[in-house]
Amino acid sequence: MDKYKIRDLKTDDIERLVEIDKICFPDEIVFDKDFFEYLLTDPREKVAIAITENEKIIGFIITIVFEEIAEIATIDVLPEFRRKGLGKLLMEETEKRLKNKEVQIILLQVAENNSGAIEFYENLGYIKVEKIPDYYPPNISAFVMIKEVGA
Ligand SMILES: CC(C)(COP(=O)(O)OP(=O)(O)OC[C@H]1O[C@@H](n2cnc3c(N)ncnc32)[C@H](O)[C@@H]1OP(=O)(O)O)[C@@H](O)C(=O)NCCC(=O)NCCS
Repeated sequence: MDKYKIRDLKTDDIERLVEIDKICFPDEIVFDKDFFEYLLTDPREKVAIAITENEKIIGFIITIVFEEIAEIATIDVLPEFRRKGLGKLLMEETEKRLKNKEVQIILLQVAENNSGAIEFYENLGYIKVEKIPDYYPPNISAFVMIKEVGA
C-alpha cells in the first residue's frame, strides 16, 4: 500500500478525471469536463480525493456535503488497479473526513445492473433503501444506498 498515496483533487486534475471516468463508465452516464468542473468548484463542502501511484491518479472519489447528508457523486478505480483494496481505502478516508464535518448519513445511487459496485458498497455497510426507475439512460433503474455514520 505504501506506493499508493491519497491527496486532495485539484481543478488541474480534471483532464485525467475525464480520462478515467470514460474508462470506468458507459458513454451514456460518463461525466464530462464541465460536470467535473462544477463538482470541484461548487462552493458546498466536499471531500474530493485521489489515489495515486507514482504521482499519477489511478482512482478518485468526489462527495458533496448537504448539511448532515453527504452524497457520493462518483468513485472510480482504473480496471487494472481493482480488487487491491484501493476503492475501500478511498471510501474509508472519505468517511473519516465526512465524520469530521458532522455528516450523519452518506448516500449514493448505483445502477441496478452494477452488481460489483453494489457488493462493494454492501461490504462497506451500505444498505439499499429505494429503487428509482429509469434513473440512468437508457431505462436503467438505480438503487439508493445509505450508510449511517453519525454517533
Ligand atoms: C466499484 C469500484 C470503485 C471498486 O473499487 P476496487 O478498488 O476494486 O474495490 P476494493 O478492491 O477496495 O474492493 C473491496 C471489496 O469490495 C468487494 N468488491 C469490489 N469490487 C467487486 C466486484 N466487482 N464484485 C464483487 N465484489 C466486489 C469485494 O468484497 C472486495 O474485497 P475482496 O477483493 O477482498 O473480495 C471499482 O470496481 C470501479 O471503479 N468500478 C467502476 C466504476 C463504478 O462502478 N463506480 C461505482 C458507481 S456507483
